[in-house]
Amino acid sequence: MQPIRIGIIGCGVIAPTHAACYRQHPAQAQLTWACDLDPARAGALAEKFEIPQTTTDYRQLLAAADVDLVSICTDHASHAPIACAALDAGKHVLCEKALAHQTEGLDAMLQAAERHPGQVFAGVFQHRHEPVNQMLRDIIQSGALGTMLTAAMQIRCWRSPAYYRGDAWRGTWAQEGGAVLINQAIHYVDLLQWLMGGVRTVSGTYANRAHQDCMETEDAVTAALTFASGAVGTLEATCASHLSWEPTLHFHGTEGSIELRNNHPVKLLFRDAAVQAGVQARFETHTEEATRFGKAYYGAGHAAQITDVLRAIAEGRAPFVTARAAGATVDLVLGVYESHRTGRAVTLAAR
Ligand SMILES: NC(=O)c1ccc[n+]([C@@H]2O[C@H](COP(=O)([O-])OP(=O)(O)OC[C@H]3O[C@@H](n4cnc5c(N)ncnc54)[C@H](O)[C@@H]3O)[C@@H](O)[C@H]2O)c1
Repeated sequence: MQPIRIGIIGCGVIAPTHAACYRQHPAQAQLTWACDLDPARAGALAEKFEIPQTTTDYRQLLAAADVDLVSICTDHASHAPIACAALDAGKHVLCEKALAHQTEGLDAMLQAAERHPGQVFAGVFQHRHEPVNQMLRDIIQSGALGTMLTAAMQIRCWRSPAYYRGDAWRGTWAQEGGAVLINQAIHYVDLLQWLMGGVRTVSGTYANRAHQDCMETEDAVTAALTFASGAVGTLEATCASHLSWEPTLHFHGTEGSIELRNNHPVKLLFRDAAVQAGVQARFETHTEEATRFGKAYYGAGHAAQITDVLRAIAEGRAPFVTARAAGATVDLVLGVYESHRTGRAVTLAAR
């Protein structure tokens, strides 16, 4: 079989992680184009990963016959126009989070996906692919926690003024669509809603407490959630904390509780001794994926997600994280912002 030919659009911080993951599959994947508005960035990625062609115009890449799949690694606001154009040009698409920064863009992307049902359209949420989160989903779905009561997610991290001043799109409503919630916290918002089986209503609020001199969006956010199951929960995030990168996830049911910090269990408590022993054994024996590209907190999921996308294309099936699934988390994030602005709880539309 011919390798799947790949064009990477956006050659900044995350692009080398995508390129390195594709390069793990020399027989199945071939990097053919690197595109960036800044030719030096496109050139640097091309040189490092031996990509033969570069351009500053993504439309040139989309018109090329030697591209089957595009990895979209640009700022949030450009995801929708690039993904729609790529799907209409007949390409498969893997788009970085956040899939979109506004509802209109997300709607357009999902409509484009409907126009091209034979093409793979995946949204990056690499943490769904990590063994610990797959196991967590398995345990929650098995009913081991009983009737779900509450679930919570917190993430504390630090983004400096230099980070926001360094790239014009960061910390803006127009291009990033927010800050800590839509960029850093979105990974754990996604895990919370995916592991709990979806969110129905959200009531949120946000503030800019420590970044007023360098960006216009939020550096602190909280929200109360009602899950589709009827359970309730909360999310809380800040990028103004010197605790660095510290995500926590809590799940509490009538029969048991699981609490994780930085992917490690800090509480596993079940009423039934046999269930307790079984869950504990699973956490003790499961192994994390060893292959990591990029910063440590990206986790190892990109490699697994890119492997899945390549297989989905080869097998003519849907990817593990479809654009529609990734879009549900965008809806939740945008619901938090809308709730703050209107002062009302937002009911999320079923997609
Ligand atoms: N999954 C993860 O763990 C993870 C980690 C970091 C970033 N990201 C996501 O990846 C995306 C990019 O983030 P980044 O930190 O690499 O940003 P970045 O600013 O470092 O890089 C983005 C690049 O895209 C280019 N670009 C913008 N518009 C373009 C266009 N129309 N055509 C061609 N190039 C264009 C810019 O010139 C820039 O070089 C964002 O969606 C971000 O949220 C995901």
